[in-house]
This record gives sequence, C-alpha cells and structure tokens, in this order.
Amino acid sequence: MTDVSLYIRRLLEANPLREPLLRSAIDASHLLRGTIGLDAGCGIGLQTLLLLEAVGPRGHITGLDILPELLEYGSAMVRKAGLSDRITFRQGDVERLPFDDNSFDWVWSADCIGYPAGELTPLLHELVRVLKPGGSIILLGWSSQQLLPGYPLLEARLNGTCSGYVPFLQGKDPASTFARAIYWLRQVGLEDVQAQTLVRDLQGPFNDAERTALGSLFEMLWGAPQPDVSPEDWMEYQRLCNPESADFILNIPDYYGFYTCSMFRGKVPMRKN
Ligand SMILES: C[S@@+](CC[C@H](N)C(=O)[O-])C[C@H]1O[C@@H](n2cnc3c(N)ncnc32)[C@H](O)[C@@H]1O
Repeated sequence: MTDVSLYIRRLLEANPLREPLLRSAIDASHLLRGTIGLDAGCGIGLQTLLLLEAVGPRGHITGLDILPELLEYGSAMVRKAGLSDRITFRQGDVERLPFDDNSFDWVWSADCIGYPAGELTPLLHELVRVLKPGGSIILLGWSSQQLLPGYPLLEARLNGTCSGYVPFLQGKDPASTFARAIYWLRQVGLEDVQAQTLVRDLQGPFNDAERTALGSLFEMLWGAPQPDVSPEDWMEYQRLCNPESADFILNIPDYYGFYTCSMFRGKVPMRKN
C-alpha cells in the first residue's frame, strides 16, 4: 500500500469518530446558506460534503489540497453523489492560493492551516486576500485526547513520544503553535475573533466502524513512537491498544474516553486594507 493510499484509508477509517464533532463545528460556524466557501487542505473531501449541506443547494464549495491523489478520490465521491456542479476540487498550495482576490465568503481549514504549529501570518494574509470583505476564517485543529481510561500517566508519556505531532512541535516557538491562533488572527486585522473547543464523547460499547476508527487512532497516535519510548511503555501500549490483545482497552464494558477539537474564527473587516 502506498503512503497516499494508507493516508486515504486512515481518513476514511477516522470518519465515524470525526464526523459528529465536525458537524457540530460546522453548526457552530453559522455558515450562511447560498454562500461560497473554500475548504483549504480538504483531503479527500469528507468535510467538503458536510460543508455543502450547511450552505444548501445554492451554495458552492471549492476543496483545495496539495495532493492530487486525494482530490481524485474526492472528485469520484462527489461525482457519484451527483454534486459535481456544487463542489469543485483544485490542486494547490495554501501558501499561494490559485484564486482571485475577494473570491470567497468563508475559508474553512481542518487540521491543516497553522496545525500543529507554523508561521501563520503569511498564510492568513493569503486567506484574507481571497476572502470578500466581511468574510470568515475558520481554523480547526485536534487539541487533546483521553483515550486510555485508568492509565493517565502512561497516556501522558505515550503522548510525549507521539510521532504525529512531537516532531512538528519540538523546538518550536510556543507562540507559533495552533493553540495561540487568537493572536495570529488578530495580528492580520481580523475582527470578532473567537475560540471554541468541541468534545467528542466516546462511550462503549462501540460498533465495528467505531472500533476500527479507534484502533486506527491508537496506531496513528502511538504506533510509531519516537525513539525515546521506554520498553515498559511500549509493552503496555501493545497490551492495551492492540485489538488482538486479551486486554484490549475497548473491551472494557464501561469504557469512556474523549477527544477535543478547537476552533478559531475571525472576520475580515468590511473595509479591507
Ligand atoms: C490532516 S489532513 C486533513 C484533511 C481534511 N481537512 C480533514 O480534516 O479530513 C491535512 C491535509 O492538508 C493537506 N495539505 C498539507 N499541506 C498543504 C498545503 N501547503 N497546501 C494545501 N494542502 C495541504 C494535506 O495534503 C492533507 O490532505
């Protein structure tokens, strides 16, 4: 399996966990019906479809991603759903958006722009450029998880060796991390800047799709650890997180965990500079 097909599989597997929370985030964004939006870093377009539901039959969404293979998958999905006239996919880089000034009413970006850390100002200026006066920027990012009930210290240590974000955060200026997005949104002149964290409660028993999604999440978070994971923690990870293990944590009848996603929003002033 190529890296890209593995990535597509992961996005599909994670969807049963992510979709309810992302629907809540879309509801909380109050996107107006009939508006024109950009899904920046859209992946295979799973959220592009959800965003389209929010803007209704007269709305239009462009999904942009840097990887053509993801967009091909998304285009086929949208074609099958008969929505090709309302969703357009475009290959491109969020740092140099292939769109004219003042093209969109809003830009949505989940787990891409500014996540988990980076130099946000140039990217935000680029988003402001393609937005109409009064348009909105909505940035989302995975912000925490508690998935090993009863093992908080082990979980904290495993998080400290997570290959998914440790390499992207180590040595970074704390001010450049996603959690500081309010500062960056204000810095580029956005108004009405707000932050909100949404929670997805995970209470067993789980159906097959949810079990697969959680198993895949364990693997993504902790299955390829940084070299400094201790042998004891690695054995505990395998005992609790391997679906084949007799102690697989999702088999606990009263399992409860959660994860959170944080959303930062702001509006372009009516008079753009
Ligand atoms: C974690 S995925 C999230 C996908 C989608 N937003 C979702 O939540 O399902 C991040 C996406 O951002 C895309 N991406 C990363 N850097 C990018 C860039 N510079 N320009 C455009 N897309 C980018 C990746 O190809 C990937 O599809």
